[in-house]
Amino acid sequence: MTQRDIFLAGEGDAYFRRNAAGYAPSQAAASPLPLEVIRGYVRPGARVLEIGCANGLNLERLRRDPGCAGSGIDPSAAAVEAGRKEFPALDLQVATADRLPFADASFDLVWFGFCLYVVDRPLLPRVVSEADRVLKDGGFLAIVDFDPDAPVRRRYSHAAGVSSFKTDHARMFLGFPQYVLAEKRPFSHAAARWDADPGERLAVQVLAKDNSGGYAPIDPA
Ligand SMILES: C[S@@+](CC[C@H](N)C(=O)[O-])C[C@H]1O[C@@H](n2cnc3c(N)ncnc32)[C@H](O)[C@@H]1O
Repeated sequence: MTQRDIFLAGEGDAYFRRNAAGYAPSQAAASPLPLEVIRGYVRPGARVLEIGCANGLNLERLRRDPGCAGSGIDPSAAAVEAGRKEFPALDLQVATADRLPFADASFDLVWFGFCLYVVDRPLLPRVVSEADRVLKDGGFLAIVDFDPDAPVRRRYSHAAGVSSFKTDHARMFLGFPQYVLAEKRPFSHAAARWDADPGERLAVQVLAKDNSGGYAPIDPA
């Protein structure tokens, strides 16, 4: 069974129920650091997709300020059902990162909301392809995830057969010339700054997509 199937079959719901207090609508006025960074790349009216959105609380925060059109996907049917009731202005669907139910070039900003660390390694190329497919040229791609010094794999304590994979997932996109790093901001669960312990270190990274970019012109004028 893949990790994707384990999340679809119930671990997504279990995650949401374990962390329900943090996803309560009453938390919507808060603005965690990753969101503050991402907010800087969202213009009013932009179309934003969060991959691994739980009930969409973070999307709702962006919908209120600066006022975007928010779409989100998550394997948890319970989280999506709750979010549809709590945040009816959002478009929330049950899906996984490797298969996004959206047309090409639908979004101005696509954001992995702290979910890449549980994605099956064989699915990563498809996940990259899907995010790139739905992101407009000229848009931004954001990744919130662990940011260790070196890749590490660890047993995920909440479900058998699942590992968490801590690595710099932005490198997957930065291998392509059209993706460049616009901003990287380290933080941790304990503080809004760099953590000396690489196992605790997280980062929000924002990449700019420019399909014509990445090349120095050498043809004569
Ligand atoms: C740590 S939570 C983060 C939730 C939310 N984005 C946040 O920042 O609070 C990870 C989320 O990723 C979801 N997830 C797990 N596997 C996924 C996959 N293959 N594709 C998309 N989301 C996934 C989980 O159901 C969970 O809601």
